[in-house]
Amino acid sequence: MRTVITKDTRVVAETLASGEVACVPTETVYGLGANALNEKAVVKIYETKDRPRFNPIIVHISRKEEFEKYGKNIPDKVYRLAEKFSPGPITFVVSKKDVIPDIVTAGNDSVGLRIPKHPLFMELLTQCGFPIAAPSANMFGRISPTTAEETLKELDGKIGYILDGGKCEVGIESTVISFVDETPCILRHGAITMEDIEDEIGKVVTGNGEKIISPGMTLSHYAPHKPLFVSENILEEDELKEMNAVFMDLDRFGSPENIAVHLFSELRKLDESDFGIIVCKKVEDIGIGIAINDKLERASSGRISFEFGMPVITQLKYV
Ligand code: TXA
Ligand code: MG
Repeated sequence: MRTVITKDTRVVAETLASGEVACVPTETVYGLGANALNEKAVVKIYETKDRPRFNPIIVHISRKEEFEKYGKNIPDKVYRLAEKFSPGPITFVVSKKDVIPDIVTAGNDSVGLRIPKHPLFMELLTQCGFPIAAPSANMFGRISPTTAEETLKELDGKIGYILDGGKCEVGIESTVISFVDETPCILRHGAITMEDIEDEIGKVVTGNGEKIISPGMTLSHYAPHKPLFVSENILEEDELKEMNAVFMDLDRFGSPENIAVHLFSELRKLDESDFGIIVCKKVEDIGIGIAINDKLERASSGRISFEFGMPVITQLKYV
């Protein structure tokens, strides 16, 4: 199949309406979309990106009024957050109504609903008139694309169209928060931080520790093909050279928000370079930095620590 990059929402709307998949721009990362109400179309999402069937897919809608159409028992806190942050990079996991096929939610009773902010995606949703199920448009476990060109590199020949909405302005995936239990639970950190959320609705918990976390968060993710190592210190030039390593300098992007914008593109660029391994340092673990560090952690295959001033590499193993 020939993959075409286009700015024409009509042709993409027609593709989706005919039960095919197509890539769509969002403010976070590019998505691989299909009609969320068409079971066969959603199956194609799993097949195209080799995604395991146990990992549920987010459903994108255009207005808050649609929460009730696809979700039930929606607490007031969802509306309070949506009032403040939607359209935007936040996904609400709520009990699902039967109109959402089980394949979308991987058999779960809950559905993730998100109102994206990108104007082209909004236009597309209006033209389609149905909700769009879309995971990030990368092959399973790989780095999420944040431009149409990166999306083409991931899925060239596997899809008909990529709707080109330019560079994603957030750069990392939405914050996912579940309202299925009494206390809201953050399943995935993103640009809307825990602090932002607690300022609006009070105490929330995170999905670490005892709680069952989001199905998609249990695996190695966002991984480049080359090993990525998280280092405590900045390595010297000669140490890097000895390991044929390159240092991913995120600080040069300035603010944590701008680091998020460039993080995935930078990983991709270094993955395509001649170096054998990529070394990075975590950012400050506050605000959006928590999401950035979470991505680095999941993308990494190990750690570089220092003993007696000498770098020591430890490999990590994911389940
Ligand atoms: O920013 C984003 O959220 C992007 C754009 C395209 O909207 N989408 C995205 O989708 O990142 P994906 O599939 O790559 O990640 C969705 C995450 C997964 O970890 C999945 O397990 C979780 O959200 N999720 C989706 N529906 C869920 C549900 N019903 N219950 C629990 N977790 C859910
Ligand atoms: Mg993803």
